[in-house]
Amino acid sequence: MGPRRILEFFALALRFSLVCSQGNAVVSIPVRDTFVLPPTFVSNYSQKFVDTVVPNGTVENLLLQAQNATYITYDAEFSAIIGSSPQIQLLAGPLDVGFAYEAGVYIPGQNLVWFTGAEIDGPGRVVMAINLTDHEVYKPKLTEPVITANGGSYYEGKVYITHFGNRTYAGGVVAIDPLTGETTTLVNSYFGVRLNGPDDVIWAERGENRAMFFTDVDFASALNLTGPPALPNAVWRFDPQAESLQAVIPRSDISKPNGIAVSPGYTKLYITDTPLSGLQGMGPGNTTGSAAVYVYDLDDTLTPVGKRLFSIARTGVPDGIKVDKRGRIWTGEGEGIVVRNDGGKVLGTFNARTLLEDKNSHLANFAFADDRLIVLAVNQIWSIQLAQVVGWTSDS
Ligand SMILES: *[C@@H]1O[C@H](CO)[C@@H](O)[C@H](O)[C@H]1NC(C)=O
Ligand SMILES: *[C@@H]1O[C@H](CO)[C@@H](O)[C@H](O)[C@H]1NC(C)=O
Ligand SMILES: *[C@@H]1O[C@H](CO)[C@@H](O)[C@H](O)[C@H]1NC(C)=O
Ligand SMILES: *[C@@H]1O[C@H](CO)[C@@H](O)[C@H](O)[C@H]1NC(C)=O
Ligand SMILES: *[C@@H]1O[C@H](CO)[C@@H](O)[C@H](O)[C@H]1NC(C)=O
Ligand SMILES: *[C@@H]1O[C@H](CO)[C@@H](O)[C@H](O)[C@H]1NC(C)=O
Ligand SMILES: *[C@@H]1O[C@H](CO)[C@@H](O)[C@H](O)[C@H]1NC(C)=O
Repeated sequence: MGPRRILEFFALALRFSLVCSQGNAVVSIPVRDTFVLPPTFVSNYSQKFVDTVVPNGTVENLLLQAQNATYITYDAEFSAIIGSSPQIQLLAGPLDVGFAYEAGVYIPGQNLVWFTGAEIDGPGRVVMAINLTDHEVYKPKLTEPVITANGGSYYEGKVYITHFGNRTYAGGVVAIDPLTGETTTLVNSYFGVRLNGPDDVIWAERGENRAMFFTDVDFASALNLTGPPALPNAVWRFDPQAESLQAVIPRSDISKPNGIAVSPGYTKLYITDTPLSGLQGMGPGNTTGSAAVYVYDLDDTLTPVGKRLFSIARTGVPDGIKVDKRGRIWTGEGEGIVVRNDGGKVLGTFNARTLLEDKNSHLANFAFADDRLIVLAVNQIWSIQLAQVVGWTSDS
């Protein structure tokens, strides 16, 4: 199916999409109920917190109500983010293909979100876009191959996308001009050795210094898309001025580095670790790693220092990660999009159960579009109007 067919397909799907008025409830759960329950409670990591069975009482009723609520609040700060009556709108889908999965890159000034997902009937994962004005979904025309596209971010007018490549074409990090589709490879080799599969990318700056950080992980090989991994998994730092590509975080610190994000002001670097044998497997797994977020300080040379464990996912793995304008950390996890303050406290959750049509699929990523949250819900895309501006870029 060519780009034109895809456009027609989406246009058709769009005509049937309706503004969603169901499942838009807000349920507030006292935060105490997240850490102390009647001791005969029963749950496990393959269920969600709201599925926890507790002896009769208010907790159980609240959890039951929360099962189908889109917004689960544990803190007044989350209530302030969503406002008193949050509005949710289905922008695209549902389709029978997982077209909206990773990245989630808002392009300021154009009211566009770029993302990555499966092509309608093509193999692999491609770069896609949604126009937030008319909800048209399309495949931007790029000037170089981007093969099994994954994470991405926006920096100074360009969209940066990571891709795994295939057996004969090296993956790497590309910079794309969103106006022209002009695509340039920045990094795809370490002295002639292929990267395993760059997964996500983010830029940071301090004074005159600029550095691009990206995660490199062996999922492409596990998915049989490339040959065996040739390098240890790592977080890499590319300095375009010094023309230096260096690994800065080893696999002994983060075993399966995945999502990566910086705080406004570029003082902190957050990385998700997804150390499961199956990429979307659930539970603690047989590994010494944790399904966790780690935080580093970025020192004056933009070097990550002072690793701390920031959070552990209650359900599934933390995948996509973004830091909002006020320094709060949002991650795509088994529970949904989980929002934490910079101290690591969970403030609230956008519930995966109501956002995903296929309850067994995995909500990996999302975008901040100023005061809207764009949810890449696998076979559909939601827009949630928030009561605060959460998005930021280096230009604002
Ligand atoms: C978790 O609990 C559910 C419901 O009781 C059960 O079906 C499932 O097998 C349990 N999973 C694990 C990993 O124990
Ligand atoms: C819950 O309440 C029902 C009805 O009052 C009762 O039959 C049941 O035993 C209670 N369950 C527990 C765990 O207390
Ligand atoms: C949640 O929604 C599902 C599907 O519509 C429904 O079957 C279930 O009864 C609802 N649960 C509650 C607690 O309302
Ligand atoms: C988005 O859609 C609007 C309305 O159709 C259109 O005016 C605008 O040019 C589109 N934006 C882009 C970047 O194509
Ligand atoms: C890898 O991708 C390149 C560029 O799209 C293509 O020409 C080549 O046939 C692909 N190789 C394999 C083994 O699929
Ligand atoms: C991996 O991919 C190769 C080439 O596409 C194929 O020949 C092989 O059967 C695949 N291996 C597995 C285990 O699926
Ligand atoms: C975990 O994996 C190691 C290495 O493959 C194996 O020796 C060990 O038995 C496994 N443990 C469990 C609990 O599965």
